[in-house]
Amino acid sequence: MKMTGNTHHGLPTLPGPRGLPVLGNLHQLDFPRLHQQLEGWASEFGPIYRIRIGPRTRVVISDCDTISTMLRERPDTYRRPRLTEAVMEEMGFNGVFSRDGDAWQRQRRVVTQALNPAHLARFYPAMRVTTERLLGRWCDNREPIDLCRDLMRYTVDVTAHLAFGIDVNTLQTDGPVVQQHLDKVFPMLFRRVVAPFPYWRWIRTRADRDLDAALAEIHRIVADMTRACRTRMRREPSLFEQPSNFLEAIIAAQSAEQVEFSDDEIYANVITLLLAGEDTTANTLAWAITFLVAHPALQARIRDEVDAVLGTASVAPDLAAIRQLEFVEAFALETMRFKPVAPIIALEPKEDVELLGYRLPMGTPIIALTRPNAVSEDHFDAAASFDPSRWLAHEKPPAALHNPRAHIPFGAGPRFCPGRGLAMLEIKAVLAMLCRNFDVAMAGNAPQVGERLSFTMQPENLSVTLTPRAPCAI
Ligand code: HEM
Repeated sequence: MKMTGNTHHGLPTLPGPRGLPVLGNLHQLDFPRLHQQLEGWASEFGPIYRIRIGPRTRVVISDCDTISTMLRERPDTYRRPRLTEAVMEEMGFNGVFSRDGDAWQRQRRVVTQALNPAHLARFYPAMRVTTERLLGRWCDNREPIDLCRDLMRYTVDVTAHLAFGIDVNTLQTDGPVVQQHLDKVFPMLFRRVVAPFPYWRWIRTRADRDLDAALAEIHRIVADMTRACRTRMRREPSLFEQPSNFLEAIIAAQSAEQVEFSDDEIYANVITLLLAGEDTTANTLAWAITFLVAHPALQARIRDEVDAVLGTASVAPDLAAIRQLEFVEAFALETMRFKPVAPIIALEPKEDVELLGYRLPMGTPIIALTRPNAVSEDHFDAAASFDPSRWLAHEKPPAALHNPRAHIPFGAGPRFCPGRGLAMLEIKAVLAMLCRNFDVAMAGNAPQVGERLSFTMQPENLSVTLTPRAPCAI
């Protein structure tokens, strides 16, 4: 991947859609569908091509091995784009997602520890309570329900409780909740990282002003959380030695001599975790529900598994039960093969590199597409069919083509998603609760569900009805 000195073609010789002078391909791009356009051009122009957004050229890569190598050659040869870091810095949350170098390494250690399996195991009883609250909300709800909104409340409640030790309980709150502010952040982040120039530094649109207000409010909420945590730790100094969550761990590290975290870094990572854990998991769940609705036979199979494992309980009682839900897990993996909520991973080489016969100078913005390989016959047999059993060792035909490296919904390599374990736990807990208690169907007259990209890929026009299988008992 590094330069060898052989003859290679440069950036201008890359194929790609024809653009206009100055604008490049800007006029052709429909940003909420950007991922689909890039996937379409990959079929036309091949595994490496370029697009231009105003003055910025980006290289789009869909080759499986090249993506895998780039992701694994972090942090030495590749990093997240400096542009992403600059935009997040301006928004005030340049944390573990966007940082590079020593700062990333320090932050990554604390974040990974806080999300490790031992912590998740201790946390499960609290998560069960949150799952029961979601059940309660759906039992009480008028139909059709606002599924995405409820799932976001669930994921924020879970993340805040696990990572910061705070039961925000937005699921049982009617008034304004923190999500209303968080919801403003990803769309604006996306808008700014794809913008042809940093217009917001000169002109502040209504959306930019709304973002400022949302960020100010989030800052206030996080400052309150941090203050409450510091007070708790002063009362219980043993928490400095044995922190029980991420916020305590980073505050303890701030006061330890060998590791330094500034207040800004603490804030940046609290909001990073809230954002990284919210839309991703909630949208993956929402996508899984679209497949439940589209495949009644698979919904019935999940229900059989869940009924057998949960018995009379309406929510998975413990981790042992969650572990037995192997078909539910396979269903989630298959969902992500078709609907990766991160269909794009942006990268940048830290030195000149050669990729697929082209020479890319240091700093060239690269977009890696995560879906084309996951749905390709080159990597999976019967790639176009939604078949969760391909993920079950005892059901998959032994000779079946099945390349896990082509399925990277959580990324890969040293910057692989540290929240994968938590996300899978939430997804399994919610799908089990849903199928144990309800029949799920598309709401009458619901339009076709579409894909909309605003940093993560979410379902558009999703409207379902939940019919209780028995009188709700919660
Ligand atoms: C289904 C749910 C989720 C999906 C599909 C997902 C996907 C991803 C992807 C694709 C990346 C980039 C990986 C890479 O560059 O190789 C990432 C990074 C990250 N995710 Fe997740 N994620 C999910 C849930 C979560 C949760 C629940 C949390 C924590 C509460 C979380 C925290 C993070 C963090 C902190 C990073 C940055 C890691 C780094 O740069 O070192 N994610 N995630």
